[in-house]
Amino acid sequence: MIIGIPKEIMQGEARVAATPETVEKFKKAGLTVLVESGAGEKSHYYDTQYEEKGAELVYDPQDLYMRADLILKVKEPLFNEKKYKHEVEMMHEGQHLITFIHPASPVNHDMVRKLASAGVTSLTLDGIPRISRAQNMDALTSMSTCAGYKGIIMAANDLTFFMPQMFTAVGMLKPANVLVVGVGVAGLQALATAKRLGAVTYAMDIRPDAIEQSKSLGAKVIDTGVPAEIAVGEGGYAKKLSDEWILKEREELKKVIKNMDIIFLSALVPGKVAPILITEEMVKDMKNGSVIVDVSIDQGGNCEITPPGVKEVKHNVTINGIKNLPGLIPTSSTWMFANNVFNLVTYLLKDGEIKLDMDDDITKSILVTHNNEIVHEGAREAMGI
Ligand code: NAI
Repeated sequence: MIIGIPKEIMQGEARVAATPETVEKFKKAGLTVLVESGAGEKSHYYDTQYEEKGAELVYDPQDLYMRADLILKVKEPLFNEKKYKHEVEMMHEGQHLITFIHPASPVNHDMVRKLASAGVTSLTLDGIPRISRAQNMDALTSMSTCAGYKGIIMAANDLTFFMPQMFTAVGMLKPANVLVVGVGVAGLQALATAKRLGAVTYAMDIRPDAIEQSKSLGAKVIDTGVPAEIAVGEGGYAKKLSDEWILKEREELKKVIKNMDIIFLSALVPGKVAPILITEEMVKDMKNGSVIVDVSIDQGGNCEITPPGVKEVKHNVTINGIKNLPGLIPTSSTWMFANNVFNLVTYLLKDGEIKLDMDDDITKSILVTHNNEIVHEGAREAMGI
């Protein structure tokens, strides 16, 4: 089987789907690996390193798409300006694709239809279930870990004062207060990072499990007032709250946000728009020079005035709505992503080829298109099929 690793074409995307290390592992498994020249450069994995581990460098993406049986990518297929062709148009019948597809998202519907009609079997990484046997394939979790870390580092950089408590010859400086709202994967990493930088950390979540985990990371808990039976749904995930409960949660937040220096927002209910927990009026109440990092911006944001994709100062508060935080720490995020993808490919391989077991839970939840059909439930529902 031939694996193809194209260079990502989304603007600003520095990640790549394989490292020299995973290329070596694929080679040991008896597979051929084609890597587009320069694909890993922005995350500091270089052509010579891929070659040393046995990859064949390819200079034309069209050539790579034509020859590969399996394409591994980071981002969904897009229009390639240089080739003046959509990446799907370079793909062929019977080919497999593994990447983040986000097939239910309306902007991707056309592309998903194209994948189906081209006869590509596509598998989306955002569908990997959060179950223990799939943990080492869960790229979404890896990327949320990166976002939690990088989000706090960026916030610390935007502060005009120290994060840790400092004892100096001229006196003591107080540590920063950091509040994390929504303590899932990203939020837990944000709490841990802020703690390591010496901040006093606070956590707010509606799930009792998340609260317990926050406490174990040394965070002080701020009660949302939401009862567990309302907050927790199927599989232990958070449930979407009614407007009434969101208003109550905002009241609890109002009491504490004026004491916070950094607020990291990552409250999300899977598959839903992010709840608005901080309104513009509440931002006006915050300390001058404080910082909000709103990583839920892809789902609309937890703060009413987070600017999508950029960072702006509003009411003397820096509000960061930068997307693709994992792409800003590309060496580590690529390393994690590439290993997740390697583990998934290994899981799907039978006798050196991808053979899908249609009764398997992991396969069922990641499969998007197969045999010229769109099979992903969320995508079908969103498309009205
Ligand atoms: P997760 O599902 O693990 O965590 C979400 C948390 O929010 C859960 O603990 C849930 O209980 C909590 N929550 C839900 N409703 C709440 C409410 N009303 N009040 C307080 N807490 C509430 O999700 P994960 O993986 O940590 O991702 C969090 C966000 O970060 C998502 O929006 C995700 O898309 C985003 N993200 C952004 C990245 C970027 O580059 N901007 C990269 C990776 C993730």
